[in-house]
Amino acid sequence: MNFLRILIFVVLVVVSSCQQIPDDPNVVVEKFLNEVNEHLAVLYNNQIEYNWREEVTDPKQLPENIEDPIFETMDYIKGVASIVSKLKRAKVTNANLKRQLDQIPEPGYDALDDSEKMDLHEIIGNMSEIYKNVGLCSFRDRNNCTLRLIPEVQEIIDDTMNVEELKYYWLEWRDKTGSKSKYAFSKFVELYKKTAALNGFLKPSDFWLRDIEGESGEVIATLDKVMLILRPLFLQFHAFVRSALRLKYGPDLIRFNEPYPQHLAEKFIGSSYRDMNGDWTIDLPYPLVGLVNITAGLIAKDITTPYGLIETAARFYTSIGMPSIPQTFWIQSARPKFDVDERLMTCWSKTWKYYSSDKINLSFCPMADEERYTNMFEAVSDYYYFKSYRNQPTLFQEEPLPNFGEAIGKAMTLSATSPRFLEKIGMGGPVYSSYEGRINRLYLLGLRNVFLIPIFYVLDKYRVDVLDGRIENLDNCEFWKLTEKFTGAKPPVQRSHDQFDAPSKLLIEVDDNYSSPTMSIILQFQIFKRLCEKTGQYRRGDDAYPLDLCDLSGHKEIGPLVLNAMSLGSSKSWKEVLFTLTGDNQLDVSGFLEFFKPLYGWLQSINQLNKEEIGWVELNQCV
Ligand SMILES: *[C@@H]1O[C@H](CO)[C@@H](O)[C@H](O)[C@H]1NC(C)=O
Ligand SMILES: *[C@@H]1O[C@H](CO)[C@@H](O)[C@H](O)[C@H]1NC(C)=O
Ligand SMILES: *[C@@H]1O[C@H](CO)[C@@H](O)[C@H](O)[C@H]1NC(C)=O
Ligand SMILES: *[C@@H]1O[C@H](CO)[C@@H](O)[C@H](O)[C@H]1NC(C)=O
Ligand SMILES: *[C@@H]1O[C@H](CO)[C@@H](O)[C@H](O)[C@H]1NC(C)=O
Repeated sequence: MNFLRILIFVVLVVVSSCQQIPDDPNVVVEKFLNEVNEHLAVLYNNQIEYNWREEVTDPKQLPENIEDPIFETMDYIKGVASIVSKLKRAKVTNANLKRQLDQIPEPGYDALDDSEKMDLHEIIGNMSEIYKNVGLCSFRDRNNCTLRLIPEVQEIIDDTMNVEELKYYWLEWRDKTGSKSKYAFSKFVELYKKTAALNGFLKPSDFWLRDIEGESGEVIATLDKVMLILRPLFLQFHAFVRSALRLKYGPDLIRFNEPYPQHLAEKFIGSSYRDMNGDWTIDLPYPLVGLVNITAGLIAKDITTPYGLIETAARFYTSIGMPSIPQTFWIQSARPKFDVDERLMTCWSKTWKYYSSDKINLSFCPMADEERYTNMFEAVSDYYYFKSYRNQPTLFQEEPLPNFGEAIGKAMTLSATSPRFLEKIGMGGPVYSSYEGRINRLYLLGLRNVFLIPIFYVLDKYRVDVLDGRIENLDNCEFWKLTEKFTGAKPPVQRSHDQFDAPSKLLIEVDDNYSSPTMSIILQFQIFKRLCEKTGQYRRGDDAYPLDLCDLSGHKEIGPLVLNAMSLGSSKSWKEVLFTLTGDNQLDVSGFLEFFKPLYGWLQSINQLNKEEIGWVELNQCV
């Protein structure tokens, strides 16, 4: 029936062009788009309901044999693709219509022929199988080869102090996965290049980065610049971590003026992510001052349920001028997530939207602690996002850049975890706003953010260079060149050209990209800085109002500003949406730097005091 409609439409277009009726292409396109918007809303809603059911239902209770609606959506997109490309060539003058046409998803892999598509699915399945289920042999009992990377090996790495054991698992993981997946990955690259061309992209990298508007060269140039501007902060932090590692492991392992060994650095940096409720062992710069313990604060305030968390978040959002969330929302639309990972790695609250409707759901993790607290602020931010753009056509009911909504939500969590805000709501003391308290918090957040950006950057840069043919044969040494240069890490043992270490970081998603998540981190701090400036809670050069202490609560002017930007959906480019929100029309690293400025100063002076070497000579231990 659907297909019939398309057919009729094509016939109409063809007939009208044959008869040379001076049909206004705007009218034709508008009619077509109305149809697409209406249809996609139905398809997308089916998809969301399907995913929602999986999220909140015991798998045993799920109805069997229900096909994932994604296939129907893909069929539809593929079905309209040729009309879309035809209409894109028509002289459409209305910018809004033109943009809607551009927002219609490409058929992507569906453009491949059937046998290629089957190959692709097999490749993706094989790689996912390799990375998810490969059995690693135990260091202590080499005959026991049943260990998975997550959770078994991850737990061993977290707990062991044995350097040989850490090195062993680093190698074992790469040996067991790299060579096995290399062939599949190279076939994936070939099919990906073909897919890009079939979807009308000049370069494979343009397809890879298609959701970030602008040509891939421009995106990469922007990220190159980000890396350059972050470099001084990164170098100081790197030097500090290297010297901390040297204290732990000695100068033979952690050599002067050299990159640090990746396996040891990862364990160190990874400790900043460990469960804050439990056995958390990170050496803070000022251990006596410590960090505010939000979990303890929640208990003290008798906030012990997810309902309490949403109330707390909702109070914050209404205080900044957002509309209140109806009382009925919790009862009618919130459900606990069914499959709760006992280690809490994936237990997050999530907001679910319905297209073209007021309806929104929330699935929540049934606990109330620090991570769930910040996560709830993000989920409620999404709630406002979904509400505010619901009047846009379906094609515009999206964020203008992948992870843009996350940047806004996370900017709000910077305020929700600001020592000033926590003190205000009775969950922290004034000591956390002291210099020492601030450095502790910035140190933790710095470990989580400053080291992540170069790793993401290298992963996407390597990928883009492989796709565009600047790196041939999945050269492993090119990967290590980038890794050494940008992350200051070296492999624990010499590597060779034909090994394949890049995907050991990508884990299982062969087509996951890291450029928009990198941009999202920068945007988070950029948005935070601008909102804080606007409310006078951050004043450049004024020690009483540094960015890291900024508390937005109570500033009613924020809500309308944020809602206004949110309500644009993807009807404007991310740069235009950003402009509405911040007055900037491009990515700006200064918010990130300003936020971490006290930490930067602290790192500089401690490195100077201890006469630490900054930077490293490149070793290129890959031949
Ligand atoms: C293999 O090692 C893992 C992790 O140390 C352990 O849980 C498991 O019981 C061991 N299996 C055998 C058969 O020894
Ligand atoms: C996928 O794995 C199967 C079984 O191991 C193998 O026969 C097949 O060749 C693999 N396919 C690709 C494309 O690597
Ligand atoms: C990155 O990949 C995901 C799926 O893996 C896709 O949804 C997203 O649009 C991609 N982002 C960009 C910038 O291409
Ligand atoms: C934070 O407080 C909780 C609850 O009192 C406690 O279980 C946890 O150990 C504390 N975390 C740290 C890092 O002190
Ligand atoms: C919201 O939850 C209700 C009740 O579980 C469900 O019927 C509906 O499909 C959900 N909607 C979305 C958008 O997930």
